[in-house]
Amino acid sequence: MESLRFYIQTFGCQMNDHDSEVLARLLEEDGHLEVADPAEADVILLNTCAIREKAEQKVYSELGRYRPLKERRPDLVLGLGGCVAQGEGRNVLRRAPYVDLVFGTQTVHEVPALIREVRSRRRRVVSTRMTHDPGPMTGFYSRARGRSPRAYVTVMQGCDNYCAYCVVPYVRGRERSRPAAEIVAEVERLVADGVVEVTLLGQNVNSYGRRPPGDVDFPALLRRVAEVDGLGRIRFTTSHPKDLSGALVRAFAEIPAVMPHLHLPIQSGSDRILGAMGRRYTVERYLGLVHALRSARPGIALTSDVIVGFPGETDADFEATLDVLDTVGYDGLFSFKFSPRPGTAAAGLPDPVPEPVKEERLARLQARQQGHTLARNRALEGRVRPVLVEGPSRAGGGQVAGRTPENKIVNFQGDPAWVGREVNVRIVAAAVNSLRGEAVDAGEAAA
Ligand code: SAH
Ligand code: SF4
Ligand code: F3S
Repeated sequence: MESLRFYIQTFGCQMNDHDSEVLARLLEEDGHLEVADPAEADVILLNTCAIREKAEQKVYSELGRYRPLKERRPDLVLGLGGCVAQGEGRNVLRRAPYVDLVFGTQTVHEVPALIREVRSRRRRVVSTRMTHDPGPMTGFYSRARGRSPRAYVTVMQGCDNYCAYCVVPYVRGRERSRPAAEIVAEVERLVADGVVEVTLLGQNVNSYGRRPPGDVDFPALLRRVAEVDGLGRIRFTTSHPKDLSGALVRAFAEIPAVMPHLHLPIQSGSDRILGAMGRRYTVERYLGLVHALRSARPGIALTSDVIVGFPGETDADFEATLDVLDTVGYDGLFSFKFSPRPGTAAAGLPDPVPEPVKEERLARLQARQQGHTLARNRALEGRVRPVLVEGPSRAGGGQVAGRTPENKIVNFQGDPAWVGREVNVRIVAAAVNSLRGEAVDAGEAAA
């Protein structure tokens, strides 16, 4: 069997990063070799994101960049997968006729065979079937870890929430949980391989175990994963506020390996807009959760997502969102301008908010949040935090970088041999995007 050189470019969220790892594992098992330079590849695969219009445009402009390569070497296999491919299906071939292969979010495991089909039959292949059978999600092992002490582990796939603005349920399909035994087995393998921290992934991990009905819910899964010997840190994302249970709050209090950080997207601070978005919680309930989490785990870091300019958002709605930012004091925030996605409920809503108003709101929101991020980071100045060293710092100068339990990046003078260890670091200076520190037990860390 021939061995091909493959190159994967990944867009979008951690779910896509993880799928690319699964894809790479499947191709390696099929005898192929990953390369870092697309110009050297026999197969180029783009794993795409459709969450906002800009993300989708970027995919087509990237595809265009590979076009000359394909024209020079007609036997190069150019494939498009992931969320854009799932949404567009055959249409991809109309928009980009030089593409050979289109695969979806649920046909990743077919890719090695599809590549063979493209090459042997010299024809273009599309496979974007999607199952509506909420059977268990199996076989989703990722590749053995690289050099990072951190790894992602998928616990569920898809989403059944249908928030009015969101394309994910359409391109990722029905919610499906992975059997707990498979998850625990994967974590054990990763830990045996040197992984110290896992992040459990799903569009809404809080509904883990609901479909197909399992005997373990998410808080119970956390307890099982925490029992894996040698695992130091557990994170998870994303949590939908409507499904955040008292048991999960207790997990933050009772399981030391669960790190004190939660990404809890609020989307808007206006109940009227939350209703229109179909989020199924109120600001009051959300703030109640924040209070409970902070009581359970003092010092917990909270981050969030906000959409500005949802159709019909008034100045008062927007001001209410700013108020929530001030009330919660998030450690970090991802904020986006509403982008209508074809097929979603919100795409058809009348939208009287002019574009410049949306831009202005986004800028104001981001400026307001910067102050909070800085304040939260500064609160760590002078304190000593255990930092899991991930590798050399991008800041250079012989520094290494790692994360505090609160998920804040710290740069400090250190030894690359510390990668994978927790080092106690005193935080000496805080900026918006990172912290600077000094190892306080460098002798021990080196031992
Ligand atoms: N499953 C996660 C979110 C996945 S998408 C959750 O439920 O929180 C990541 C973020 O992108 C969302 O939280 C939302 O803030 C943003 N987003 C999703 N669709 C969008 C759209 N059509 N326009 C703008 N932002 C959007
Ligand atoms: Fe999208 Fe809502 Fe599902 Fe998150 S919960 S993926 S925002 S539909
Ligand atoms: Fe994008 Fe698909 Fe993730 S649309 S955000 S890559 S689930």
